[in-house]
Amino acid sequence: ASAYVAREIANLIIHKQKEGKHCVLGLATGSTPKTMYAELVKIHKLEGLSFKNVITFNLDEYYPIEPEALQSYNRFMQVHLFSQVDIDPANTHVPDGTINKDDIRVYAASYEKEIEDAGGIDLQILGIGLNGHIGFNEPGSSRHSVTRMVALDNSTRLANAYEVPNMSQVPRLAITTGINTILRAKRVVLLAWGMHKAHIIRRAVEGHVSEVVPASILQEHEICT
Ligand code: PGA
Repeated sequence: ASAYVAREIANLIIHKQKEGKHCVLGLATGSTPKTMYAELVKIHKLEGLSFKNVITFNLDEYYPIEPEALQSYNRFMQVHLFSQVDIDPANTHVPDGTINKDDIRVYAASYEKEIEDAGGIDLQILGIGLNGHIGFNEPGSSRHSVTRMVALDNSTRLANAYEVPNMSQVPRLAITTGINTILRAKRVVLLAWGMHKAHIIRRAVEGHVSEVVPASILQEHEICT
């Protein structure tokens, strides 16, 4: 499945190259997309796929956090993709976990504007939390939400504690793009592996559309897989 999705991304990048256009990707972190990034790096190395026309916007980042920190999603993206392909660093965007608290509203609005100015997200990659979150839009997040600061669910902090020695080192806050930001992407692909995700995938795909399960709102997106 990772290879399949990586191939769709590669084809989109090439298609946009032929049109002389940028390809705007919405990217996710966490354990789920690692194999997909590995496939993209493989296509870059073995087939010469260039990322020169690619602009990326990541979903979220912990707050506060330094970009070099073990838990940082800025670091994650450097390790798993950006440092391994020929993407222009100026074209990569991951929310900045070092922004002063007083400046976050303005920063979040500017993140949304940068997405708009790039022409909107062509393809958004998502994982899903065991509680149905997409990005860090925890249950109860509004379908109208845009980029903002949020408090993380304890269940999310527990689920992400595998990255660090103990749960107390998982930040309590994050900056995330919103459900509305995600819904505006022209194409959405949500990835989930393993039996432990089956229950929440069932609720997202077959359950009621509800902000109680943020991923269920994707049923309203026209081209979501
Ligand atoms: P995971 O996280 O890929 O580490 O399971 C997914 C998510 O929380 O969105």
